[in-house]
Amino acid sequence: MNHKRVLRLAVTVAATGALAAGMTMTLTSTASAGTTLKASAAEKGRYFGAAVAGQKLSDNAYVTILNREFNSVVAENDMKWDATEPQQGRFNYTGGDRLVAHAQANGMSVRGHALLWYQQEPGWAQNMSGSALRSAMINHVTQVATHFKGKIYAWDVVNEAFADGNSGGRRDSNLQRTGNDWIEAAFRAARVADPGAKLCYNDYNTDGINAKSTGIYNMVRDFKSRGVPIDCVGFQSHLGTSLSSDYQANLQRFADLGVDVQITELDVMGGGNQANIFAGVTRACMNVSRCTGITTWGVRDCDSWRGSDNALLFECNGNKKAAYTSVLNALNAGPAITPSPTTPGPTTPGPTSPPPTTPPPTTPPPTTPPPGPEGCTASVSLNSWNGGFVASVKVTAGSAGTNGWNVSVTLPGGASVTNTWSATASGSTGTVRFTNVNYNGRLAAGQVTEFGFQGTGSGAGLTPTCTAS
Ligand code: G3I
Repeated sequence: MNHKRVLRLAVTVAATGALAAGMTMTLTSTASAGTTLKASAAEKGRYFGAAVAGQKLSDNAYVTILNREFNSVVAENDMKWDATEPQQGRFNYTGGDRLVAHAQANGMSVRGHALLWYQQEPGWAQNMSGSALRSAMINHVTQVATHFKGKIYAWDVVNEAFADGNSGGRRDSNLQRTGNDWIEAAFRAARVADPGAKLCYNDYNTDGINAKSTGIYNMVRDFKSRGVPIDCVGFQSHLGTSLSSDYQANLQRFADLGVDVQITELDVMGGGNQANIFAGVTRACMNVSRCTGITTWGVRDCDSWRGSDNALLFECNGNKKAAYTSVLNALNAGPAITPSPTTPGPTTPGPTSPPPTTPPPTTPPPTTPPPGPEGCTASVSLNSWNGGFVASVKVTAGSAGTNGWNVSVTLPGGASVTNTWSATASGSTGTVRFTNVNYNGRLAAGQVTEFGFQGTGSGAGLTPTCTAS
């Protein structure tokens, strides 16, 4: 987002406030006395996180604060599309892997940010459109989510896809121009790639009930009603000098749809009202039982993308600011989440309704033939919902390796392939033949590669046959 937009955010100050009405039965009032952000948040069943720029991990003063105060991290830039796939099909996970390693060594969870965003697209993707871009973006989602599989608490699958202003509609971008279903296609591909990660939509200027947040609300409601896998919504919360009086009510209305909510990129204009606004946001999260955590977009003021706004909780010299104390107090005063049978929807990661009707993608069907001495074999894992499916296909080279491969599947009547990644499809109904793309045709003996396709109708009973060339 544009920095100047931060200053144009909604205006009503209401950040002080006692516990609001609408507290659910899953919240129990228990004052506590944690002395760090992470301890206080954890006592209330939440996490407290920070965005981390890769190079800062070699700054001792920075890492000391990070490890002492935070139990969740998100890459400020290192997991974005331009960083992870600088050239098409060539992936670079150096920065992301380093952050994950730091998190694992220090007991922190990791938020993945962001699989698809109209900004920070690599140059090659900026120049693409239509079905080529659709395939490339789905492939990106699949590859990156697969690489980090099992290591990510929640992915920002799609970031900032809605327009500012009063339209309540989508933002124009080359991604949007591939078709309005690009967001759900991305969520479906992400679910297949990492079924254990919560899948989130993330945006800014959604800090109250307004046209933009309502547009997103309608999308989430639609996704839930059609079984599109979505588990959470991130509210970036790059805030100015005030906090909207309906900030908490806005979080709550999303939670009531059956998704978790998180504060994902919190920073606040420095000055007189900063501590109050930080406290107001913290209280709002604590009062919403499905608000599972808060992340600030950086650690110290001088780590922030907002330059001289002094928008964070620590001074550059590492000292705690008044805003730090106000957040800590709000965490300690807040209610704890206690699981209750009345909790609407699941509170643990996992597929949302309806559940997949087929075995999870990691379980190959029992009928898979073993790899032959030559040629290749293929197996399909399916994620189905009413009216559509995503198929992941594993191709395994036989003892002679491959120069290229083809996989044929025969679709049930009425089914058709709508997009394909990491392979080229010929045909879309009946028997469809998938051929390797440039970078995944040559496989050594026993080597495995994966491609996928999305379809409408039923994908039940697909039996692939693989031919090597
Ligand atoms: O790494 C290069 C460096 O090699 C080069 O010399 C320099 C020259 O411009 O650029 C450096 O990259 C910059 C990168 O930050 C790392 O510092 C990019 O230009 C710059 O565009 C990038 O800015 C990031 C911005 O997203 C991109 O739009 C900010 O760090 C990051 O804080 C910001 O984060 C976004 C969230 O992802 C989404 N929500 C809004 C938030 C704030 O804009």
